[in-house]
Amino acid sequence: MFGREKKKTLDQFGDLFMPEEAAEPILSKPVRGALLEWLTEIWAEDELTAVGIKPRRRAIFDGAPGVGKTTLAHHLSARLGLPMLAVRPERVISKWVGETGANLGELFDGAAHGLALPNGTTSPVVLFLDEFDALSRQRRRGEQASDDSRNEEVNTLLQRLEQHPGFVIAATNFGEHIDQAIWRRFDMHITLALPGPVERERILARYFAPYGLPTGALKALAESLETASPALMRALAENIKRQIVIGPKLGSDMGRDAVIERVLASCHPHPDLGKPRLWSLGAKDHAVSLIPWPLPLAKDLPAIEAAPAPTPATDNVVTFGGSRP
Ligand SMILES: Nc1ncnc2c1ncn2[C@@H]1O[C@H](COP(=O)(O)OP(=O)(O)O)[C@@H](O)[C@H]1O
Ligand SMILES: [Mg+2]
Repeated sequence: MFGREKKKTLDQFGDLFMPEEAAEPILSKPVRGALLEWLTEIWAEDELTAVGIKPRRRAIFDGAPGVGKTTLAHHLSARLGLPMLAVRPERVISKWVGETGANLGELFDGAAHGLALPNGTTSPVVLFLDEFDALSRQRRRGEQASDDSRNEEVNTLLQRLEQHPGFVIAATNFGEHIDQAIWRRFDMHITLALPGPVERERILARYFAPYGLPTGALKALAESLETASPALMRALAENIKRQIVIGPKLGSDMGRDAVIERVLASCHPHPDLGKPRLWSLGAKDHAVSLIPWPLPLAKDLPAIEAAPAPTPATDNVVTFGGSRP
């Protein structure tokens, strides 16, 4: 094994996300329900301990790129009042034999010790293991020379996960690539699906703000965006707003269809996800013809038209993002 210069500090393994910078993702009702349950469980730690069980500490989020895995982990950490360390796999994985295991050791030791804050105190930290499949690939038979060392790394990871006293959230686009034994060490598995029609409307409304679309136009646009990730919808809405501001300064054609065509040309669906209808039909899509132009401000839409439709009262039971009970 190569001699290690000196121990790495926690922040050398990735990026820190502080609680005050978190935003709440828009999620489907079942996912919100599962997360509210988890948070409630964590807040009830003392009562659970009294009956001999502990809150679950390890979750894995499985979902396509741009569905909000990082955003959700950050939001959850913020709800717990903790900073999150988003670990970059390339800062842990090394081609040198033994080095990956040593990195894992330092990472988990550092996280167990806590994060030194600028004010001199130490805070527990949520470990967010992004692109987790890179760290925990299935052990393959016939993986020759590196076989033993990979097995050793997977075993180190297993042990470290099991012993770690703090919260660990792993994220992957490829749940099926993750070693079975490692997968079982997580006590929560949450699949983040692509947003359905209702979530798409809410996501569009959020990112078009302060502009707004009348209900019919919002519905139609959400329909034309089937299979779009939240990240893509955010890019679409924000690029339209950017065009509205900078287009006139550049002397660009500011007609609705011209703006939409320019925006569609500048942001693209992830190649692994399907191509939403809007990208196939462009400005000829029926949904585009329903968009009022210039875009109205949401506050100027008639009250009844204000999008999105209000959430029914019963929904509040599982609303994720209310104040801490
Ligand atoms: N469910 C969501 N609701 C609202 N915005 C979202 C959602 N998912 C993703 N986004 C936005 O898309 C961008 C990418 O999201 P991210 O959390 O990095 O996705 P992932 O980690 O799954 O690839 C972020 O800017 C985020 O604000
Ligand atoms: Mg991410």
